[in-house]
Amino acid sequence: MRRLIEAEEIQAKVAQLGRQITDDYRGRPLTVIGVLTGSMVLVSDLIRRIELPLRVGMIQASSYRGKATVPGELALDISLSPDVRGRDVLVVDDIFDTGRTLAAVIEQLNAAQASRVRGAVLLWKERRLERDWEPHYFGFKIPDVFVVGYGLDYNDEHRSLPYVAALEDGDF
Ligand code: IMP
Ligand code: MG
Repeated sequence: MRRLIEAEEIQAKVAQLGRQITDDYRGRPLTVIGVLTGSMVLVSDLIRRIELPLRVGMIQASSYRGKATVPGELALDISLSPDVRGRDVLVVDDIFDTGRTLAAVIEQLNAAQASRVRGAVLLWKERRLERDWEPHYFGFKIPDVFVVGYGLDYNDEHRSLPYVAALEDGDF
C-alpha cells in the first residue's frame, strides 16, 4: 500500500469543511445523512466540526461486492433515514467516483420531499467521464486509483486506518 493522505491532513480538511458547512447552514434545519458503510468515519468526525443543531441519519448503498474493484449493480436502502420532509439534507459519502451512488441517493431524498439536498465527500476521483452532477463539498481530488482507509474498504477490510492509502498490485 502507498499512503496518499495522512491522518493529520484529513483532520485539518474535515475541520475546514465543518467551518464552511457551519457558515452555509446557519439558521436552516439540517439533516446529515451518511451513506453506509464507507462514510461512517467521515460522518462521525464531520458532525463534531459543524457548530449547529442537526439531525443525523444513515442510509445504505453498495455497488461493490467482495473483492470487486469495479462497481456492480447499485443496491440502495433509505429505510434507515429519518424523516427529511422540509429539511435541508447533506448527504455524506466517502468517495465520488462515477457519481452514480450519490445521484441515486439524492433522487430518492428528493422523492422523500427534502427541501434542499447537497452532497459532501472526502475524496473525488478525477476521471474524464462526463457526469451531470458534482458534489457540493469535497476534501481532496485524487487520481483514478483504488484507495482504502478512513472508512473505505477493499473486501470489507482496512476501513479503520486513520489515513488513506492506494492499493498496489500485490495488495489485491
Ligand atoms: P460511485 O457511485 O461510482 O461514485 O462510487 C461511489 C462508491 O463506490 C463509494 O461509496 C465507495 O463505497 C465505492 N468506491 C469507489 N471507489 C472506491 C475506492 O477507490 N475504494 C473503495 N471504495 C470505492
Ligand atoms: Mg460506499
